[in-house]
Amino acid sequence: MASPSGNQITIRRPDDWHVHFRDHAMLDVVVPFTARQFARAIVMPNLTPPVTTIENAIAYKARIMAAVPSGIPFEPLMTCYLTDTASADEISSGYRGGVFAAVKMYPANATTNSAAGVTDIANVRGVLERMQEDGMPLLIHGESTDPAIDIFDREACFIERTMTPLIKDFPELKIVFEHVTTEDAVQFVEARQSQAPGYMAATITAHHLMINRTDLFRGGMRPHLYCLPVAKREKHRLALRRAAISGPGPFFLGTDTAPHARTAKESACGCAGVFSAPVAMEAYTQVFDEEGALDHLEAFASTNGPAFYGMDVNETTLTLEKSPGADVGSVFSSNGEEVVPFLSDEGTTWRCV
Ligand code: DOR
Ligand code: ZN
Repeated sequence: MASPSGNQITIRRPDDWHVHFRDHAMLDVVVPFTARQFARAIVMPNLTPPVTTIENAIAYKARIMAAVPSGIPFEPLMTCYLTDTASADEISSGYRGGVFAAVKMYPANATTNSAAGVTDIANVRGVLERMQEDGMPLLIHGESTDPAIDIFDREACFIERTMTPLIKDFPELKIVFEHVTTEDAVQFVEARQSQAPGYMAATITAHHLMINRTDLFRGGMRPHLYCLPVAKREKHRLALRRAAISGPGPFFLGTDTAPHARTAKESACGCAGVFSAPVAMEAYTQVFDEEGALDHLEAFASTNGPAFYGMDVNETTLTLEKSPGADVGSVFSSNGEEVVPFLSDEGTTWRCV
């Protein structure tokens, strides 16, 4: 259905397969940015405390729905935070009952609010076995937490030490390799897709398609571009671009929009996370336009994700038009905290109609 025509493109309404909505005052202000563009979003469970039960997820979903502007159809897809002590019964019944769409696995201490994450895959084998039986997707933050590993090598190290044994042990477990940042991860997902189609997919953020690690230091330190996994060298950014524009297949959209207060980012120990929801489809569309690949935007944004999750595609549409110079202002949470969005210096070159 994609109809790129010069300065406009209309695609099936996209979904965002990786968002952080936070809670309370922050949630109220960030949810509308996602709901205005996307029909559905996979909601990360790394709250404090994390979302680990059916009851927590139902209550969190209700708080999200209360923040969706009236008249906008939007469906949050809830996830369960995997811990060493997670119950296979709780997760399985949450999935079969339609509360959980997936499980999120953070290696313990890999990133923001991951202290309660998994310390050793051996501790969650029973859960993974049940998920494999149920066909429930496991969403993985794929970074090694070995402090001896250089931060730029953590994704590649995770592939070798954790992902490779995991797919051997659970060959029919559906896995999303989240926010891939390296050529190594792209090649790993492609190889898996050719050997066992449908069992592994990967999300790609807009910011990892637009910035490399040098951009983090362009003219000084740029805390609002710092996230985990951290942006890598230019050759990796180019590999991500090739994967994103590759059409039908295992790569799909996941912004990893991760708002933090400006004061928490611009700090002696700044938080990881890029707040991209206000410019999400604008940024992805700019990338596909730069690559001369607008005809593949719909696969990446609107159809590859539902195909992997076994969900229907959206029947409504989203139209974007090329409109250079659109401004992106700061966002303020209801308790007055400022959040600085991605591209707030540069502006966007596309806008949603
Ligand atoms: O940069 C990140 N921010 N990466 C993550 O994995 C978590 C996220 C957050 O929650 O802020
Ligand atoms: Zn995330």
